[in-house]
Amino acid sequence: MDPQDGLSASEARSEAKPSGVPQPAGRGEAAAVAVYRRRVAAPIDRVWENVLDWEHLPFLHHDSFCGIELAESGAWGWRARVLLPPRARPSEVEIEVRIDRAASEYHTRTLAGTGAGTDIVTTLAVPDPAHTDVRVEFFVPGLPERARQAAGAGYLRLYARLWDQDEAMMARRHAVLAGHAPGPARPGARAPLPLGPAARLRERLPRLVECGGDRFRVLEHAGRLLAHATVCPHQGGPLEAARVEDGAVVCPWHGYRFDLATGLGPAGQRCRMAVRARIELDARDEARLVVD
Ligand code: FES
Ligand SMILES: [Fe+2]
Repeated sequence: MDPQDGLSASEARSEAKPSGVPQPAGRGEAAAVAVYRRRVAAPIDRVWENVLDWEHLPFLHHDSFCGIELAESGAWGWRARVLLPPRARPSEVEIEVRIDRAASEYHTRTLAGTGAGTDIVTTLAVPDPAHTDVRVEFFVPGLPERARQAAGAGYLRLYARLWDQDEAMMARRHAVLAGHAPGPARPGARAPLPLGPAARLRERLPRLVECGGDRFRVLEHAGRLLAHATVCPHQGGPLEAARVEDGAVVCPWHGYRFDLATGLGPAGQRCRMAVRARIELDARDEARLVVD
């Protein structure tokens, strides 16, 4: 991966290593260019889940990755073809993430493309059940000494941003799993929710409303009043402000799509909305939310 992503130096949270750091045995010409450390507000199980979750890269981290095509995956990790910005002319790299759970460590290696031979070693530790300590060391091959410090600073900026995004996702998912935040809406009888005259409703959209203990977003799309649940049925992602595209709401975590009329996903998508929400208008143009 190319760490030169143009963020300001103030975003770096750890020190880039000075040039000339001795390379560890067995890494060929790769030089250690930086070490990144942080404490993440998520249990280690959420972190391992995140490490194996290749699907989120071009969605949660859409500013750092343009696309991904999985080659293989398993409990050992995954290998994929990854597209890197700029979006108009992306470059392609082959990335492998390989886990060594016994050592609480995983390697992110660039196998082909820009930066081939780069090995990013992440080590995890558990300071307490609610947190995980992360240490990341970046080994980059073929860099002249004078370029190592800048490369290290670029990696530190990139990793600060990636871990900020991952931490927010892991914390919300953990809260959903622990019952501290609302989970996906479940089917069940509930009274329709009156929303007033349609003309006034349209002036105040999009709007979040509660119905039967679940939250829904009411919005206008292509001239029609529509509604959908606000917790993604895949892994609890946030749909409160998710973008709407071609009649479907698109989850920002893994890009799963749910048709606003049917709650269904496209062919091949393994999950769908468990409830269907819609806006009904009566003869006087009074609106109400109906969930079934
Ligand atoms: S949580 Fe995965 S697509 Fe929504
Ligand atoms: Fe991530």
